Amino acid sequence: MRLLHVATEIFPYVKVGGLADVLAALPAAQRALGADARVLLPGFPALLQGIPGLEPAGATPDLMGLGPARFLLGRTGTGVPIYLLDCPALYDRPGGPYEESGDSHRKFGSLAWAAAALATAGDAGGWRPDLVQAHDWQAGLVPLLLAQPGGPRPRTVMTIHNMAYQGLYPRTLLAELGLAPGCFNPGGVEFYGKINFLKAGIAYADRITTVSPTYAAEIQLPAGGAGLDGLLAQRSRDLTGILNGVDYHVWSPSSSPHLEIHYDAKLLSARKINKNLLQRAMGLDEVADTPLFAVVSRLAEQKGLDLVLENVAYLVQLNAQLLVLGTGAPELEAGFHAAALSHPGRVAVDLGFDEGLAHRILAGADVVMVPSRAEPCGLTQLYALRYGALPLVRRTGGLADTVVDADAQSMMDGTATGFVFKEPNPWILGETIGRACQLYRQDPRAWVRIQRRGMAQDFGWAASAREYLDLYGRLLG
Ligand code: ADP
Ligand code: GLC
Repeated sequence: MRLLHVATEIFPYVKVGGLADVLAALPAAQRALGADARVLLPGFPALLQGIPGLEPAGATPDLMGLGPARFLLGRTGTGVPIYLLDCPALYDRPGGPYEESGDSHRKFGSLAWAAAALATAGDAGGWRPDLVQAHDWQAGLVPLLLAQPGGPRPRTVMTIHNMAYQGLYPRTLLAELGLAPGCFNPGGVEFYGKINFLKAGIAYADRITTVSPTYAAEIQLPAGGAGLDGLLAQRSRDLTGILNGVDYHVWSPSSSPHLEIHYDAKLLSARKINKNLLQRAMGLDEVADTPLFAVVSRLAEQKGLDLVLENVAYLVQLNAQLLVLGTGAPELEAGFHAAALSHPGRVAVDLGFDEGLAHRILAGADVVMVPSRAEPCGLTQLYALRYGALPLVRRTGGLADTVVDADAQSMMDGTATGFVFKEPNPWILGETIGRACQLYRQDPRAWVRIQRRGMAQDFGWAASAREYLDLYGRLLG
């Protein structure tokens, strides 16, 4: 089975969030199961420089009036063939992949046209996919372009990693995007008078997937569908939630190159050293028995971190510590910066993006909080489980599917793996933080049992990769 994933992030070259981790791991896991999975990304500088031995692999016809562009083919560090759309006019720019310079419709519209060309005409060596999987709105036009009548075409799957980002553009760009006026209707790309890239993917793909079973249900309801719940409910039979996995080669406390001190479930005491090193590096008081709560996250509205800000004083009052690694919304950055200034030694903040620090936080913190208002899957809580930091999460999306609250029942039957709260308000989060502190201080043995249980969970990619292959198999007949 030949598969082409079309996306805009891939670890370790271009990473904003979890999408990069998924694109680094899923195709590799599918190859391990025998599928010929490849990926196509824009030729961002970090990829052109980071992938060794790139060779020309064919050309696209005229890309939205920019002239032809070529494909380069190489292999990622894990051996997955990767096509890069080499088009310096669009992608040779400073900043992250989503830096807006007023022409993102062209950046991602071109990616879709190039993907459609590769998927129908094949590369210079004659390779052509049986199935194309488009990831998030940036690839949303791919299923639409491939659904146009014409010669034989591969099947298409639209994978939604986040409903909060849809790619909306004025209808006046329809012609420039090369889209037929006929697709601008409520059953197609039209969304309240605008062009909606994600909607195009959902409307025209043969199948739709999203990254957890609970999120698949949530997005069919008005509260979770971000305006597309009607369409998603209509396509309910074609929509599947497949939980993301974890690449344990990358995320493991026994081998992560970012840790000085390695450990596993048998050697949990080594976490204490990691905690101390972390406290020292971040300017927190070096106290061993203070519960250390941490956040590693994009600072975006949907992550619910305003609820954490509202609990800073309470955490300090509980004699706990708070450590935040995140970058994003200016008001959240300002809030956490101010919190660190007000509580030196108790609250520490790093407003950058630091892969290594993310690992060291997971290895040293006692609790990792993911209080999201919405969370399609969430990877941080899965990483926390493996590192022996107890996840404290809101019951939504993939968080609901992966963490078992330490309530009376689960403590008795031995299934608890973390702390879960329901209502997204600061009091309920505070109460849950209080519960975590109490267990940490009053029952260290129970705490260790929960840590060990979390570390033993297997969220590896094999099962999810198999589920995708089964779905493709049914689709391809
Ligand atoms: P999302 O994709 O919505 O951001 P996920 O939980 O799926 O959420 O994935 C987040 C990924 O991004 C994780 O790998 C996490 O470690 C990483 N991450 C987020 N913010 C930072 C940061 N400031 N520094 C380093 N890694 C970060
Ligand atoms: C998105 C979601 C996150 C998910 C990630 C990878 O960025 O916000 O929940 O884990 O994609 O699928």
